[in-house]
Amino acid sequence: MKLNIAVLAGDGIGPEIMKQGVAVMQAIAEKFNHEFTYNEAICGAHAIDEVGDPFPEETFKTCMDADAVLFAAVGDPRFDNNPTAKVRPEQGLLAMRKKLGLFANVRPVATFDCLLHKSPLKDELLKGADFVVIRELTGGMYFGEKYQDNDKAYDTDIYTRPEIERILKVAFEFAMKRNKHLTVVDKANVLASSRLWRQIAKEMEPQYPEVNTDYMFIDNASMRVLTEPTFFDVIVTENTFGDILTDETSCITGSMGLQPSSSLGEHTPLFEPVHGSWPQAAGKNLANPVAQILSAAMLLEHFGLNEEGALIRKAVDASLDANVRTPEIQVEGGAQYGTTQVGEWIVNWIKNA
Ligand code: IPM
Ligand code: MN
Repeated sequence: MKLNIAVLAGDGIGPEIMKQGVAVMQAIAEKFNHEFTYNEAICGAHAIDEVGDPFPEETFKTCMDADAVLFAAVGDPRFDNNPTAKVRPEQGLLAMRKKLGLFANVRPVATFDCLLHKSPLKDELLKGADFVVIRELTGGMYFGEKYQDNDKAYDTDIYTRPEIERILKVAFEFAMKRNKHLTVVDKANVLASSRLWRQIAKEMEPQYPEVNTDYMFIDNASMRVLTEPTFFDVIVTENTFGDILTDETSCITGSMGLQPSSSLGEHTPLFEPVHGSWPQAAGKNLANPVAQILSAAMLLEHFGLNEEGALIRKAVDASLDANVRTPEIQVEGGAQYGTTQVGEWIVNWIKNA
């Protein structure tokens, strides 16, 4: 298969983990005789410094011309600590999602047996936890009307029927492909936007009679994902709730450095780690490349390259079993491996498989 990949490494640890993600894709291309081409483009703080725009037109064009986008992370403390900054790296990420129409963010949550002890939760609660959070990505408060002066500020949590219907459709279809259990997470006891979500979900339920659909308030869901993670199969929720809930669910896996995601919608699909740019670790060869590598696996699977995706997952499992791990998940007394060493080990494993 020929695939044209837009490569957006972004800021902080982005370039280091991206290098490993691309190396793994290339190892797969060679093994399975695929032809992948990579077109790099700038975004985030990096792009603000270079051209004053965190998602420049040229980057947008590279993404639109590609079959898929492999993205790493954006963000820089120079902007976090400056509430008056006019442009921010995160605006580039939001613009990218909006302009590519990426309304469905799929964030799988699974456990690795050998890392159960790394989670702050008890092993017996975690074992077998395996669910997907589908986060609406281009609506709600992040994009609704905003206002800020010295005495007053607001964001508007706005959703329209078509926006809700299309994300719920994705979620119901995911549930059909999985264990047919969908949990709609909202705050319908307080928020009007949530009540519309719930109304529309109930209207759609009869179209998916095989799916067992239930409804949970976000406050309760934040507790249940930690106290009974095995309850869930597919969760669907609005942008803000999904953002918060998926940082929380990363505790289930044991490290944010292990969590990939895909963002799907109208134009080019995008694959990215759930974690951010971790600027403190940039250039230190510390960051875990696995979330980026698994994002590449999700990319390949999106195009039906399931055997290729499975091989990457096997290679990652093998690296974890062999204790070839970055410091945040390494066992006590285990050898030191950096971003590069973990990536290279996985590439070699694929080559020799
Ligand atoms: C994420 C990130 C982004 C978000 C930020 C960086 C804008 O936290 O992808 O979860 O909130 O969507
Ligand atoms: Mn987030």
